[in-house]
Amino acid sequence: MALHPLIENFRQAGQGQVFAFFDELTPEAQRHLLAEAAEFDLAEIARLTATLLAPGAVAGVNLAGLAPAPYEPLPTQGGDAAAWAAAKATGEAALRAGRVAAFTVAGGQGTRLGYDGPKGTFPVTPLKQKPLFQVFAEKIRAAGIRYGRPLHWFIMTSHQNHAATVTFFEERSYFGLDQGRVHFFRQGRMPAVDFSGRILLETKGTIALSPDGHGGSLRALERSGALDLMQREGIDTLSYFQVDNPLVRCVDPAFIGWHVLRGSQMSSKMVPKAYAEEKLGHFCTQDGHLVVVEYSDLPMAMQRETTADGQLRYLAGSIAIHVLDREFIRRVARGGAGIELPFHRADKKIPTVDAAGQPVKPEKANGVKFEMFVFDALPFAENPLVIETSRADDFSPVKNAEGVDSPQTCRDDQLRQFARWLRAQGARVETDPTGRPVAGLEVSPLFGYDEDSFAEAWKKHSPPPAVSDGLYLS
Ligand code: UD1
Repeated sequence: MALHPLIENFRQAGQGQVFAFFDELTPEAQRHLLAEAAEFDLAEIARLTATLLAPGAVAGVNLAGLAPAPYEPLPTQGGDAAAWAAAKATGEAALRAGRVAAFTVAGGQGTRLGYDGPKGTFPVTPLKQKPLFQVFAEKIRAAGIRYGRPLHWFIMTSHQNHAATVTFFEERSYFGLDQGRVHFFRQGRMPAVDFSGRILLETKGTIALSPDGHGGSLRALERSGALDLMQREGIDTLSYFQVDNPLVRCVDPAFIGWHVLRGSQMSSKMVPKAYAEEKLGHFCTQDGHLVVVEYSDLPMAMQRETTADGQLRYLAGSIAIHVLDREFIRRVARGGAGIELPFHRADKKIPTVDAAGQPVKPEKANGVKFEMFVFDALPFAENPLVIETSRADDFSPVKNAEGVDSPQTCRDDQLRQFARWLRAQGARVETDPTGRPVAGLEVSPLFGYDEDSFAEAWKKHSPPPAVSDGLYLS
């Protein structure tokens, strides 16, 4: 019997081992394996093997000519208050014109948190235990009401968590959002390979596939038709954020306005790193381009370098919040003409099978996964821009089960934010020295999702509610 053309291709590419057990599989399992094998591009795997796995290729990123990137400081940090006000007005106009959509990358596996389920379903608010997805949904809904244009929201899932994510929204009636404006799509997958570039099987009938990194979101936006949908709807600007950060301003008018006024194709927010070892990417320039160098790639000696005034030299930390131009995404997704999002290699322990088809649970790294990072698109963008944001109002991720960036630190940061908003309106709120209120409180994003919207809602209350334990403003 003639070989399936896909199997033939794999054999010719030196990847015939993927089908080593094919004849033992049921017809259904055979179809499944063929479908998995059709998902990725063998030429791309060969290219990555030749570059990332070649002897001597292991040693990290190129640090030649690296310098800290400039950024627009906040008015409170010496920035130009008039320019910030103009940016905010421009961003508000873009929101009122319906030019902006929100985008959440939610395809990660949440391994560090040790939570079983899509990370967006993790309960995160201090009083009501609202899940991350609900916090974003309510912020997006409230912004749509405020600007008179309901927003579209794109959510990238993975193969692993797609069905559970969609069901979660369905069971909760999309948290009051118009279902037709919430769009889920799956990110792509890449096969893991051994150190000589041979694709690994996970079982006799399945390939060791994993998500292709949040950089894969750009391809997935194009492939899923999301960019075409945006175009039909008159949306040219995408506000990108990660699923792990409930403090994020899902659509920040000042940020959007800076992006528009500068004619930027991709813009990013920074916060000053809290300490040298903080695990954030660093905004840098290199050969006249804006780049992000991951915390794992910048030597610790450089992360600790200080300027004459004692400040960290590589101060600008990336909090993974970006604004991207629709057609820029399309250009990067399609590639070519010198544009190619690089893949990064991560050496991992990858469960696989041996030559006899027996399961192998490796004790040390036995292979490599390939991932793309969205910030690697920055060097291809025209007029890229970095603006400063206040950590307290934009960034408190849930990454670890305990310690830094944990559910506890995130709840505390939400509480501090609610206390600040209340105090700014003259309410009496008792706090500890870190600004955390003594009473348990929560502000629904539908009441106020930033200082401005909170102030407006508060002023409508007469008399204002007393701040007591368990106060929930909704
Ligand atoms: C990330 C950034 C880092 C930044 C920090 C801020 C990378 C490599 N590093 O670190 O520069 O300072 O956040 O919090 O991104 N995701 C997908 N698909 C994937 C992989 C990840 O959708 O294939 C999503 C996750 O759901 C999550 C986000 O991307 O929303 C971040 O992924 P994670 O691996 O947790 O990044 P960090 O190491 O925390």
